[in-house]
Amino acid sequence: MGQMRAEGALRMTLETKRLLLRPWEAGDAESLFEYAKSPDVGPIAGWPPHRSVEESRDVIRNVFSGREAYAICLKTDGKAIGAIELKLNGHTDMTARDDECELGYWLGKPFWGRGIVPEAARELLRRAFEDLGMARVWVGYYEGNDKSKRVQEKCGFRYQWRSENIDVPLLHEKRTGHVSSLTKEQWRQDRLCAAAQGGNEWQRPGSQF
Ligand SMILES: CC(C)(COP(=O)(O)OP(=O)(O)OC[C@H]1O[C@@H](n2cnc3c(N)ncnc32)[C@H](O)[C@@H]1OP(=O)(O)O)[C@@H](O)C(=O)NCCC(=O)NCCS
Repeated sequence: MGQMRAEGALRMTLETKRLLLRPWEAGDAESLFEYAKSPDVGPIAGWPPHRSVEESRDVIRNVFSGREAYAICLKTDGKAIGAIELKLNGHTDMTARDDECELGYWLGKPFWGRGIVPEAARELLRRAFEDLGMARVWVGYYEGNDKSKRVQEKCGFRYQWRSENIDVPLLHEKRTGHVSSLTKEQWRQDRLCAAAQGGNEWQRPGSQF
């Protein structure tokens, strides 16, 4: 637990080698708008580019307000450059179980390709399985989103199925979706394998690995 700081009853700050994952704040609106206005970020994930700082402020207040929603920040400057969330039962259509949740994420385009989201996602998987008692984490991507597919492969998610004609409500269109999941047991085995092979991908200060 050494890597977590209480930020109130339920809001946590998580730490990885390069990142702080912390609750969103109203003061992140400018930074959020800077990255969420890009047409290369939202639409492929199913939401329209932000049109104003005010819209970004609304999103912080109403969308990034989930119990397990985090701003992705580089430790070097603490600026919010992306979002990652465990969507709990009632906030995801992938499961109706309290011991399962859905992982979602995006990152500002200037930061792509440095393994930032996989690093953040691994910490959220640890959070899901160790701290929140989850038995399975679900994740999805829309057909053609090869970058997100790669993130999911790198994090050990196992492919489950494709769904045709799923609604993308914010964009008023239908797409094909691909769904994967990771169980606590698969996650635990993967970490043991990585440790046995001398890999340090899963290591974090204070970790048993
Ligand atoms: C998907 C996304 C979160 C990946 O984050 P990331 O921190 O860049 O992840 P990685 O650094 O591991 O890169 C993943 C893959 O993206 C591709 N990629 C990386 N940088 C790229 C760039 N600048 N241009 C095009 N593709 C790139 C590579 O194929 C990479 O896989 P590799 O490491 O095997 O080469 C990010 O691209 C993003 O926010 N995309 C738009 C929103 C989105 O798709 N969200 C997910 C919805 S399901």
